[in-house]
Amino acid sequence: MQRAEFESQLNELKDAAERSLTGVSGLEDLQSWEREYIGSKGSLTLMFRALGGLDSADRPEAGRLLNQVKQSLTATFENRETELKAGATAARLVSEAVDVTLPGRQPQTGNAHPVSLMIDELSEIFALMGFQTVFGPEVETGRYNFDLLNIPSDHPARDVWDTIIMDTLSEEIVLRTHTSPMQARVMEESKPPVRVIVPGRVYRYEAQDASHEWMFHQLEGLAVDSNIRMSDLKGVLQELARQLFGPTRRIRFRCDFFPFVEPGVDFAVDCAICNGKGCRVCKQSGWLEMGGAGMVHPRVLAGVGIDPEVYTGFAFGLGIERLLMMRYGISDIRAFAGNDLRFLSEFAALTV
Ligand code: PHE
Repeated sequence: MQRAEFESQLNELKDAAERSLTGVSGLEDLQSWEREYIGSKGSLTLMFRALGGLDSADRPEAGRLLNQVKQSLTATFENRETELKAGATAARLVSEAVDVTLPGRQPQTGNAHPVSLMIDELSEIFALMGFQTVFGPEVETGRYNFDLLNIPSDHPARDVWDTIIMDTLSEEIVLRTHTSPMQARVMEESKPPVRVIVPGRVYRYEAQDASHEWMFHQLEGLAVDSNIRMSDLKGVLQELARQLFGPTRRIRFRCDFFPFVEPGVDFAVDCAICNGKGCRVCKQSGWLEMGGAGMVHPRVLAGVGIDPEVYTGFAFGLGIERLLMMRYGISDIRAFAGNDLRFLSEFAALTV
């Protein structure tokens, strides 16, 4: 190759490279440009090889020109690279910009379930009267759910509780139908004086409607000591009604039958909404049924090794959902386990 030809080729290459660089608009394009012109396999590198074909006298000058072009193209390349990188960073900063003046996003917090709130409240009320809160198993044996409560296996009263039976193979296993089995468990564990309440879930094989659920919560109460009387039971329940529904509330006892108490009663509180005159909430009766109660049956005491000649006791059981329904005028018990957030979040303000 002649020197003149070499130089014109070099000039053409330089022009083409510079022209092409003005069209480069992104870092990726720039990289292909580098590969094409100044990279190790690029056109300029090929020109270095062509140097060998020149006359030895022409080589130094041609080499100098070639190096000049390489330096100039490399410098232009680096400038463009700096420019493009700065542009990319600026664009990224703009797209990732955070407006710190925007109001924060409210975190979604849950709140306590109304039943939990009521259990806390009941625990506090009873703690002030000397009762300890304890919890028991939801899966029970027939022995605790029935036998020790004076309901033998052939007794018709066993049918009253619509039991969900889990297993009958070795020993009868049931979902507890009431919190009363904890009466026996507590008395087996601790000797009198006993004063406990037992909140918890109970289960019944029952069709659901506005006032029946197959799972609901009860609060059991038990006091055993020397000289416990029916009037103590009445006083405690009266105080409960006043704490829950206001200072002027009254309590009503009526005879009722439960195999594990004698005498047995159902108890009601006079309706706080109409002051006992009769309204929709109390179904015109003036009274709201709260649960069952009575004096612990001597056979129950004897069954757990407590001498009924020395000790007496009272027990009561009430429905926790029912208390909430009375207080807040909730007409459908299914709301509690229905998991509708519109209902549950109504109690957010009461959560501490
Ligand atoms: N366990 C009874 C029920 O579920 C309520 C009750 C408890 C009655 C304690 C008397 C004494 O129906």
